[in-house]
Amino acid sequence: MTTTGTGLKRRAIGGLVRQFGHPRGVAGRMAGWVMAHRRSNRERNGWVVSLLDVRPADRVLEIGFGPGLAIAGLADRVTRGRVYGIDRSAVMVRQASRRNRAAIRAGRVELIQSTVDDLPRFGEPLDAILAVNSVGFWADPVARLHELRRLLRPGGRIALASQPRCPGATRDTTARAALELHDLLTRAGFTRTRVETLGLDPPVACVLATYEPD
Ligand SMILES: C[S@@+](CC[C@H](N)C(=O)[O-])C[C@H]1O[C@@H](n2cnc3c(N)ncnc32)[C@H](O)[C@@H]1O
Repeated sequence: MTTTGTGLKRRAIGGLVRQFGHPRGVAGRMAGWVMAHRRSNRERNGWVVSLLDVRPADRVLEIGFGPGLAIAGLADRVTRGRVYGIDRSAVMVRQASRRNRAAIRAGRVELIQSTVDDLPRFGEPLDAILAVNSVGFWADPVARLHELRRLLRPGGRIALASQPRCPGATRDTTARAALELHDLLTRAGFTRTRVETLGLDPPVACVLATYEPD
């Protein structure tokens, strides 16, 4: 490929990554459609929800819900509690709200357009928090995870998942992502950390941890 061709390809990939990090406009709607329909995305989100092992009365928060696949999985399980979601993208709030319309109407799901840098209030402490392929877009993840830890009840759980989407990603890329997430959670004061892996191509890593006050 010529230098110009390489530059164009790089710019196109950069533009695409930006859309998945903050979907906007028509391209953002297309990115949301891809995330909602790609088989690996669906498997990834369902798997993370199953690992969190939420109970019917739990209060759960997802950061960066995108088109709302995990929110839908959580809403099926949380029948007496409440599922909250925040995402900075207005386009994703619209798509996820459509996907979860019935649960929102029933008062079991609340989706808010907000960035993780400026968390809304959720009232009572939460039982669980998750973020799937989102932490990589946060500006100061350790500071944000400190704040999220304070929203949890003692013994509350967090799950951070990553399926690297950079070109050429392999199981080594996933293993490095797991180490990074593990390190972020430890620095933010979470304990009882464990790593699970789902064998997709590339694999998905999910790092689970607990908030245990001293
Ligand atoms: C790659 S998408 C993943 C969406 C979904 N979790 C999934 O796996 O299908 C990342 C999502 O995180 C959201 N996001 C990124 N940075 C964010 C931030 N700082 N605060 C809130 N949402 C954020 C984006 O708007 C986007 O919807």
